Amino acid sequence: MATRPQKWRIIGLMQSSKLTLQELRPASVKKVRPTAMLTCYDYTTARHLSAAGVRALLVGDSAANVILGHDSTLPVSLEFMIQITAAVRRGAPDALLMGDLPFGSYGTRSQALKSAAEMVKLSGCDCVKIETGRGHLGHVMALADSGVAVVAHLGLRPQSVKLMGGYKAQGRDADSAMRIVDLAQDMVLAGAAAVLLEAVPPEVPELLRQLVEVPVIGCGAGAMCDAHVVVINDVLGLSDHSPRFAPKLADVGKLIQDAARKYVKSVGSRAYPAKEHTYEMPEPEREQLKSDVEQFGIGLRP
Ligand code: KIV
Repeated sequence: MATRPQKWRIIGLMQSSKLTLQELRPASVKKVRPTAMLTCYDYTTARHLSAAGVRALLVGDSAANVILGHDSTLPVSLEFMIQITAAVRRGAPDALLMGDLPFGSYGTRSQALKSAAEMVKLSGCDCVKIETGRGHLGHVMALADSGVAVVAHLGLRPQSVKLMGGYKAQGRDADSAMRIVDLAQDMVLAGAAAVLLEAVPPEVPELLRQLVEVPVIGCGAGAMCDAHVVVINDVLGLSDHSPRFAPKLADVGKLIQDAARKYVKSVGSRAYPAKEHTYEMPEPEREQLKSDVEQFGIGLRP
């Protein structure tokens, strides 16, 4: 049997290291482990998450809350989202990177096309997420037609918080669950490359996965999803309030506070900066400086 030249095999290996959206749900494999996805908003965190083996990142418009301190996702701009998505890309060049289009950046189909193209070109993300109602079927179709891998976000849609009357779980009765499944299926028929379900009972992804072949990503959507995404600030213990579906994996907030307290104390007590934190001047230069400044009536410690 003919073997492939060594060089080809190396290229093949390199290509397989980057996860694609389609690989979140490979058609050929019956049982595959769900993929861990986290939100990420900056270069440094992206580097650490990559080093830890997180292969899928979402630069969510939750940045409006956790980075900018707003009480909703509505105020964040497309420019800001593009800038931080590009930073995450620099920190995680091999990650499957999802960029989020913020509120007001995809009102019409042509605006959606323009915003998505800017997001993809300027940030280097692999796919673009939009929060979708029935009125967005045409947007999804136009985006898919233009070659954008578009992820349809359904269930709780924080950009519609004023319309939904708060941040409430969705699809908790039979009718509304069916409406979400039905709309998600239509989104896929329109060309959505994946569906993201936020804050819905597990029955919703369970049914949807029987009707569509694209990956179903859950954010508080139970165990039946192909990938699970949570806001990193929630799992790191940096948020004041976290949704019940976000596991608390660390208390980084406490670590920051403890370290900051130590710093305040060591500066106040003059323990910092110590000799090892200081740039030294060679002795002859110090003597020279001492004599140079004598004429000005100032001096150095002995
Ligand atoms: O903006 C975000 O972080 C999101 C997730 C909550 C899915 O859309």
